[in-house]
Amino acid sequence: MTVTIPLLSLRNVSRSFGTFKAVTDVSEDFGPEELNCIIGPNGAGKSTLLNMICGTLAVSSGSIHFGDESIGGMSGDKIARLGIARKFQVPSVFPSLSVVENFHVSASNALSANELDEILSTVNLSVDRDTTASELPHGKKQWLEIGMALSMQPKVLLLDEPTAGLSVDETRATSEFLRTLRGKVTVVVIEHDMAFVRDLKAHTMVLHHGKVIASGSFEDIENNDLVRDVYLGRR
Ligand SMILES: Nc1ncnc2c1ncn2[C@@H]1O[C@H](COP(=O)(O)OP(=O)(O)OP(=O)(O)O)[C@@H](O)[C@H]1O
Ligand SMILES: [Mg+2]
Repeated sequence: MTVTIPLLSLRNVSRSFGTFKAVTDVSEDFGPEELNCIIGPNGAGKSTLLNMICGTLAVSSGSIHFGDESIGGMSGDKIARLGIARKFQVPSVFPSLSVVENFHVSASNALSANELDEILSTVNLSVDRDTTASELPHGKKQWLEIGMALSMQPKVLLLDEPTAGLSVDETRATSEFLRTLRGKVTVVVIEHDMAFVRDLKAHTMVLHHGKVIASGSFEDIENNDLVRDVYLGRR
C-alpha cells in the first residue's frame, strides 16, 4: 500500500482581525501535483487563507505544513524560496519589460531555452514572447503573471481569481492550461466562476464565513445541500 503524504497540510488554521474572525479552524490537505479549488461568496475568507499559506499574513492559530516543514509564521520570501509561488488577485507585472524578460526576472534560477518555451506554451504566450507587457490585453496579462509564478519552478502554485475580467473564451483557455499542470505542480486556485470550476475537475473546498462547509469533487460540492443553500442558490 502506498501512502500519499500531503504536500500542503492545514490544521485548524484561523485568522482574526481584531475581534472579527475571517478564517476559522480550516483543516485541509492538498496532495502533491493535484488541482485544488477554493470557492465561496465574497468575504468568505478565501484570500485571507491564501495569504496565510504564502506568508503575506500571519496565522492567528493553527499550523501549516509544507512537506514536513512548518511554515505558519515564516516570512513570505522564505516560503517562496521553499517553492510556493503566488499570483495575487490584482495583476502585477513589469510593464516595460517583454513577456520573456518578465519570466527571466521572476525566475529563481536561470531558465533554459526549453524551460522558457514550455512556460510560454503552457500559458498561451508563445507568439507574444517579445511583446512589451504593457501592450498585452488584460487576459494575457493574467496569463503572463501565471507564467511569472511558473518561472519560479514552484512545487505549489497559488492563484487568486485568475479569471477575473477574462472573456468566456479566455476563461475556458485558462482552465484548459491549468489542467495541463496536473502531475507537475500542486495548484490551489480561488475562483468565483462556476463554469470554470466545473471545467477544472479539481478537488474543491467551499468556504463560508471563514469556515469549510464542504470539500470534495465538484460533483459532490454541486450536490451538497448546504452549499446550494449558501452559495450556488437553490433553484
Ligand atoms: N487586513 C484586514 N483587516 C480587517 N479585515 C480584513 C482584512 N483582510 C480581510 N478582512 C476581512 O476578512 C473577511 C474575509 O476577507 P477575504 O478577502 O479573505 O475574503 P474573500 O473570500 O477573498 O472575498 P472576495 O471573494 O471578495 O475576494 C472580509 O470580511 C474582509 O473584510
Ligand atoms: Mg479574495
